[in-house]
Amino acid sequence: HRVAVLLGGRSAEREVSLVSGKACAKALRERGHDVLEIDPRDGVAEMVSALQPKPDVVFNALHGHWGEDGCVQGLLELLDIPYTHSGVLASALAMDKGVAKKSFVAAGLPVAESVIASRAEVLAGDVMPRPYVVKPVAEGSSVGVEIIMPGANSLVLDEERWPYGDKVMVERFVPGRELTVAVMGERPLSVTEIRPRQGFYDYTAKYTDGKADHLLPAPLKNGLTEKVMEMALVAHRALGCRGVSRADFRFDEDLGEDGLIILEVNTQPGMTPLSLVPEQAAHVGIPFGELVEWIVEEALC
Ligand code: DAL
Ligand code: MG
Repeated sequence: HRVAVLLGGRSAEREVSLVSGKACAKALRERGHDVLEIDPRDGVAEMVSALQPKPDVVFNALHGHWGEDGCVQGLLELLDIPYTHSGVLASALAMDKGVAKKSFVAAGLPVAESVIASRAEVLAGDVMPRPYVVKPVAEGSSVGVEIIMPGANSLVLDEERWPYGDKVMVERFVPGRELTVAVMGERPLSVTEIRPRQGFYDYTAKYTDGKADHLLPAPLKNGLTEKVMEMALVAHRALGCRGVSRADFRFDEDLGEDGLIILEVNTQPGMTPLSLVPEQAAHVGIPFGELVEWIVEEALC
């Protein structure tokens, strides 16, 4: 097929997307596809002209604003070009952590209590008892995430140091373990436990080799693995996701099964060499090239 890979873009996750996109483009070339890489950093007009003549399919390897939030998806709908991963609505729903959470609750999934506040409200004082987590409402890769423990953190959310918008999610901090599940079509693949070597699974831990251990499959008590996988599928369906997604969870063991909550669904999960979806796919016998091929074929259905 003639495949246009969208990569890079303008979001805070540009560098991650370049790595994801290069890896996918390389795998597609190796499988004999005619691959064109398009980095829409320079503008929409340039991207639209690069998409003429139309490719058979767009492989969307963008992350974050614009590429993961329904915008590019809407443009591709208008251009009438098939594209990979989720459509406009699921992308928009998943990208806004507050709206996504409402969909999870409606689907019966457990979440951590949270409030959406403005930057000024968050800076004016604790909007919930500590410990809590402060997150931009629509970023990925833990960009902008701060954990506020009892004691001496000082929050700096001024526009220069925290350019992630005025809508902030303040969420109860759930102590414990970090789990993730890739969903491929209607199939949850496995459960990975992520153990950062220090601190939490932040941007550095996500993309620096050796900064986090991945336990695959996650060592969980009987039945819990199935439960987490089922929850990931429920979340994928609740948002109406397509193709591959990845659901992230926290698990406070002290509370037993009640300690399991869903954090979010990523509709454009990372495809870098350290990323979790390719790792789970390989674990269940699907090498990277086959995963990427499946994503393309699914988009053409
Ligand atoms: N937002 C990053 C790319 C991920 O979910 O893997
Ligand atoms: Mg994310």
